[in-house]
Amino acid sequence: MVVILLGPPGVGKGTQGVLLADALDWERIVTGDLLRAARRSGTELGRKAKAYMDAGELVPDELVVALVEERLEGIPAETGVIFDGFPRNVAQAEALAESLQRLGRQVDKVLLLEAPDDVLEKRLTGRRTCPQCGAVFHVEFEPPAVDDVCDRCGHRGLIQREDDRPETVRHRLEVYRSQTEPLVRYYEDAEADVVRIDGDRSVDQVRDAVRAAAMEGVEA
Ligand code: AP5
Repeated sequence: MVVILLGPPGVGKGTQGVLLADALDWERIVTGDLLRAARRSGTELGRKAKAYMDAGELVPDELVVALVEERLEGIPAETGVIFDGFPRNVAQAEALAESLQRLGRQVDKVLLLEAPDDVLEKRLTGRRTCPQCGAVFHVEFEPPAVDDVCDRCGHRGLIQREDDRPETVRHRLEVYRSQTEPLVRYYEDAEADVVRIDGDRSVDQVRDAVRAAAMEGVEA
């Protein structure tokens, strides 16, 4: 199975991707995380990506597609894959279709998470991330048990992502509307199985809807 989690910044793709992958023992390909890891390790790709990411712009396709292909090729054919943050435009969707075809796979589901912009802005500006293990929290909606300490690895000192500042958040939403949202039409026109999911609910309610949609029509 190959599932794409599509949706605007802050809608909960990362949160739901982790829950779905853990429940089904699938792999995640998260381009934002791959790019942030490249930045931390100081690779040339990471250095090139930094300016785009901090400005809330998309990183050039050729850099991202190469990262995705390398990661995808390392995943056994029988293992389910969840894409989070990729594809982000039609050129990336076409590159993905080609890569999958080479591997004898295809996109099986596109799960579109949706929420109003004011909800997205609140989620992003309140998000805090563990710099050590990548766990994601929210100051109001998903606070850690102990203030500023990661529940998962115990690291003290949660950080705010550079691109989660209010002005960058608003630009990321514009980039989503202009470049990524047209993918909904692209996949619908291709008669892919596109499922719209209301992401403006509790994490558990969205989790159940995502899992049901991912598993619909799949033999247990
Ligand atoms: P990326 O890291 O992919 O960011 P994004 O798509 O903007 O998505 P986010 O990670 O911001 O949000 P999310 O939907 O995962 O929400 P989350 O679960 O964290 O991309 C960052 C940058 O990298 C891009 O701007 C671009 O520069 C570059 N990039 C990445 N991929 C690229 C590509 N393919 N091509 C080119 N460039 C690329 O949740 C958000 C917050 O809300 C959290 O605090 C969470 O705790 C909380 N929350 C989640 N669900 C709920 C809920 N149901 N109720 C209440 N709170 C909730």
